[in-house]
Amino acid sequence: MRELAVVVLAAGQGTRMKSATPKVLHNLAGIPILGHVLATAHALKPTRVLAVLRHEKELIETYVQSHYPNAEVVLQDEVPGTGRAAEQALEALGDFDGEVLILSGDVPLLDVESIEQLLMRHRKQGLTGTLISVELENPNGYGRILRGQGSTFGGEVKGGVAFVAQTQGPLQGIVEQKDADPMQLEIKEVNAGVYVFDAKALGVALAKVGMENSQGEKYLTDVVGLLLKEGKKVEAQTLLDPYLVAGINDRAQLSEIAAELNARIVRAWQLAGVTIQEPASTWIDVTVQLGQDVTVLPGTRLHGLTRVGVGSTIGPDTTLTDVEVGERAKISRTQAESARIFDGASVGPFAYLRPGTELGEDGKIGAFVETKNAKIAKGAKVPHLSYVGDATIGEGANIGAGTIFANYDGVNKHRTEIGPHARTGSGNVFVAPVSIGAGAYTAAGSTIRRNVEPGALALNPVPQKNLAGWVLEQRPGSASAKAASEMTE
Ligand code: UD1
Ligand code: CA
Repeated sequence: MRELAVVVLAAGQGTRMKSATPKVLHNLAGIPILGHVLATAHALKPTRVLAVLRHEKELIETYVQSHYPNAEVVLQDEVPGTGRAAEQALEALGDFDGEVLILSGDVPLLDVESIEQLLMRHRKQGLTGTLISVELENPNGYGRILRGQGSTFGGEVKGGVAFVAQTQGPLQGIVEQKDADPMQLEIKEVNAGVYVFDAKALGVALAKVGMENSQGEKYLTDVVGLLLKEGKKVEAQTLLDPYLVAGINDRAQLSEIAAELNARIVRAWQLAGVTIQEPASTWIDVTVQLGQDVTVLPGTRLHGLTRVGVGSTIGPDTTLTDVEVGERAKISRTQAESARIFDGASVGPFAYLRPGTELGEDGKIGAFVETKNAKIAKGAKVPHLSYVGDATIGEGANIGAGTIFANYDGVNKHRTEIGPHARTGSGNVFVAPVSIGAGAYTAAGSTIRRNVEPGALALNPVPQKNLAGWVLEQRPGSASAKAASEMTE
């Protein structure tokens, strides 16, 4: 078998995104658009992978090199067009004499299987070039596939009546939308921007491509017509699934493709044994891992390196980013980032877990609780209305309702340590740095500024004074005064 090089075109300006972020770095299901294409390129196990860059080169190069260090970055010069990009990739390939697969950095859903079929056909039929096409109801924006008058195939018999399903003559070339005449604009078969060529033949053809077109660019698509005119064999492999070849040029297309990709991800997890109640309101990044019998309730978004273990229930209305969840855990109406939730623990409703939160086995973070840099050990509970910042809470400890871990002195952050099986009262403020010993208690309403030794009860009550008759004197005639006077009569 001949050697395979994959060239990913990503040097375009992406003007239609109207963004400071380069188009191919926009997020699609948790990774940049370009990441999808590079992942596909690598899955084919080619000898070389090249990414052609120009606009925002540094930013894109940083991404490519950190995630795909084997990929070679090629810089496109000021000559614009996909043809020039391909030409410069060929220059970088040197005396490479195999097959060159060209992928567009903005066509993210094309799968490995379809490309393998493309390569197979290209090899089996001994073609010089093979491209992918698809018929679109709305072909707007794409290059159109030109075919001659010719054979008719695809005839089908339904109810005894023969009719023609498709008329396809031999491939003649590709015309870009901006260069097409009104008749050509009616063509619904479009170019996907994905091709395999014989490297040498591609180089020869590209050298002959000019820039006399409405965009003043060197079009890669012109190669197809040129090769055919020279009697070389080039064919189009037609795919039936329009999403596989959908290109992203603007943000409307990005959101449409994101929704479609998400629907496919959700469906794949359902078929793998995950209950997803409402696919339309559930978003799962490609990078997320879910165990068997996980239940995902409506309005849930799972991002980044989030992993959820067997039998856990997530949602409703929960967003997890880079969160590791163990088995049989329950997380409802929660926002969490860079946190770890161990087996059997429960979180929410209405919890906010910031980076560095760890909740041990069977632990609980309850309603209206915010945590940050908080290690909460096995079986420990923070059930209600609390802020837990920079804390270590020991095994089996219980934090009273409405507790504030005062971690910030205005300049520095300090830690609070709560010993195992401590019971802290409601409405406490722990002024860090401070520690509560193992099994110690604190009284309701305490402000704890000094360490509490194991087994002690800490209380710092302000002696309560009741000023009798204050309301009748100071708020005469008020509803409170009336209510009070009825009781005191
Ligand atoms: C291109 C095709 C069109 C096809 C469509 C499919 C050409 C001339 N047209 O059009 O037939 O239907 O893709 O999605 O090829 N790029 C470079 N260097 C450049 C210009 C572009 O590397 O100088 C890269 C872009 O970053 C992008 C890809 O090539 O990843 C396609 O470029 P784009 O400008 O989006 O082409 P389309 O107009 O979509
Ligand atoms: Ca495009």
